[in-house]
Amino acid sequence: MKIHLQTPEDIRPQIWKELGRASLDRHHEWRTPVLASTDAGGLPDARTVVLRQVDAVAGQLTFYTDSRSPKVAQLQAQGAAMLVFWSARLSWQLRVRVACTAITSGPEVEALWQGVKQSAAAGDYVSPRPPGAVLAQDSTTASAETTDAPRPAHSFALLRAQVLQMDWLELSRAGHRRAQLSANTWEWLTP
Ligand SMILES: Cc1cc2nc3c(=O)[nH]c(=O)nc-3n(C[C@H](O)[C@H](O)[C@H](O)COP(=O)(O)O)c2cc1C
Repeated sequence: MKIHLQTPEDIRPQIWKELGRASLDRHHEWRTPVLASTDAGGLPDARTVVLRQVDAVAGQLTFYTDSRSPKVAQLQAQGAAMLVFWSARLSWQLRVRVACTAITSGPEVEALWQGVKQSAAAGDYVSPRPPGAVLAQDSTTASAETTDAPRPAHSFALLRAQVLQMDWLELSRAGHRRAQLSANTWEWLTP
């Protein structure tokens, strides 16, 4: 049953609860938001990412990526980014303005890599070619070319997004509702 939350004091923690659930439940619709950034030419770029960690107290969301992927260079040059989440179950859209930091080395990366390297996803972070590298035009899979390539160290990295502001939209037959919120502000908006 859908609970109709009424007040900012109810809705704000529920948003963080759903984000936390999404980081743990691969079937949660908020598991795979779109992360939008700006490229070197100032043009928009966007892609789907998996939400891996949520720290409601610190207001931080964490993603895994390949340190050589174009988004990492983009976010290092311009950390201001947007995340967009949609859940049909909740009828909630969440647009999150964030400041992103790429963490490409250090104890946290190495500790998480110890787990990731045992998983099926490990291959994503040890490919000899960076994500987005052009393949030979007769080849449709990256693996066709990797036979003699030297094994590189992993390029597993974290993207840490500090939440600055959220735009929450609830679609409902009873009337849509929208609010803009930050850690200590709340404003109802026309949906
Ligand atoms: C369902 C889904 C989940 C994805 N999750 C991630 C992810 O967690 N991290 C990541 O770097 N790329 C992820 N990708 C791939 C990105 O969307 C993107 O294609 C790739 O990272 C290259 O992006 P870039 O060229 O903007 O760096 C995912 C793609 C899909 C379809």
